[in-house]
Amino acid sequence: MTLIIAKIIVFLFLANFDTTQGAVLDIKAFGGAPNSNIRQAFTSAWTQACASTTPAKIVIPAGTYQLTGIDVKGPCKAPIEIQVDGTIKSPPNPADIKAVTQWVKFGYLDRLTISGKGVFDGLGATAWKQNDCHKNKNCKMLMMNFGFNFVNNSIVRDITSKDSKNFHVNVLACNNFTFEGFKVIAPDESPNTDGIHIGKSTDVKVLNSNIGTGDDCVSIGDGCKKITIQGVNCGPGHGISVGSLGKYDTEEPVEGLLVKNCTFTKTDNGVRIKTWPNTPGSITVTDMKFEDLTMNNVRNPIIIDQEYCPWNHCSKESPSKIKISKVSIKNVKGTSKSKEGVILICSRGVPCEEVDMTNVDLTFNGAPAIAKCANVKPVIKGKAPACVASA
Ligand SMILES: *[C@@H]1O[C@H](CO)[C@@H](O)[C@H](O)[C@H]1NC(C)=O
Ligand SMILES: *[C@@H]1O[C@H](CO)[C@@H](O)[C@H](O)[C@H]1NC(C)=O
Ligand SMILES: *[C@@H]1O[C@H](CO)[C@@H](O)[C@H](O)[C@H]1NC(C)=O
Repeated sequence: MTLIIAKIIVFLFLANFDTTQGAVLDIKAFGGAPNSNIRQAFTSAWTQACASTTPAKIVIPAGTYQLTGIDVKGPCKAPIEIQVDGTIKSPPNPADIKAVTQWVKFGYLDRLTISGKGVFDGLGATAWKQNDCHKNKNCKMLMMNFGFNFVNNSIVRDITSKDSKNFHVNVLACNNFTFEGFKVIAPDESPNTDGIHIGKSTDVKVLNSNIGTGDDCVSIGDGCKKITIQGVNCGPGHGISVGSLGKYDTEEPVEGLLVKNCTFTKTDNGVRIKTWPNTPGSITVTDMKFEDLTMNNVRNPIIIDQEYCPWNHCSKESPSKIKISKVSIKNVKGTSKSKEGVILICSRGVPCEEVDMTNVDLTFNGAPAIAKCANVKPVIKGKAPACVASA
């Protein structure tokens, strides 16, 4: 009798375990063989996962695969995890990709997880040579490795994005989205290969990740709220950037950024806020916290640039209308590659307010780096360079 009851209990336990675990969908079962294009196999597995009323897991096992692009959308009935342990390669020629702007594109989802040791290789080298955006305003838009659009409560864990043709990841209109243990790899000279670009999103976290690429490590566009970047190593690349902002009068404010315990190695910038002069945008940028940062040979470790004008394509006649306030810079140490370790060039139209610097200890060639400032009066606490007026 007790044995029968024990068996029933064991049976019930296993049955319950099975339903919470949900279906495991190996792309092999959908015809996704190594060294073949897994576009169709993935799409079929996704259709089944998305219809499942219990959590489903799609598995791409170790091996090398080709992928001409995927574009999947919810809503789905239950959480979906995609575990990638293989290396997935994009066609090197942008013309051979089936996707429109993003090679691996997800939209309108709740509770998506992407995990595993896998690598998404954008094979960008050919495309980078075609990038002429620095001189051609109507340049062709190259493919990004990943697009997450309108995706909530989701996680990207451990996987690697390599050699994207354009941005590695674009996060648009997402809520509660976390990158953890994420890796980005591309050479220093690859153009426009931002690691993670975040736009119009709330509560996005980038944690314990390594991002080495040719452009911004993480860039934060308009309409972002409550962004956390913590335990991230940036380099090579252009550092962590808010903006550029102000180009359009339709932009939304940026509110709440914490960059904490990050290391920047040989990057152009450490942390930066950049806004265009002579443009219509007039949003506010507020509540920016930069703390516990290490700079290793960084050209501009801390920079607010409200006269941002790359390639001198714009006029500085009228000042930026973007109002920056509540910026706190705390415990920053290391080496600067230029004499001005801190540059705070605020708008003469709307000066920066409530900026404070606490314990900023940067050296240039062994001597303390200086701070160059305009239209801002930072409150200085502890050891930090006093402002020298900008010429
Ligand atoms: C994501 O969250 C936003 C804000 O809460 C909500 O409006 C939207 O419908 C959600 N999207 C999905 C796909 O669940
Ligand atoms: C955020 O997303 C994670 C991952 O899906 C989830 O565990 C957590 O409950 C979500 N947080 C909120 C406040 O919904
Ligand atoms: C800082 O970030 C590193 C990852 O770069 C992590 O290993 C370390 O535990 C973090 N330290 C603190 C105090 O959070």
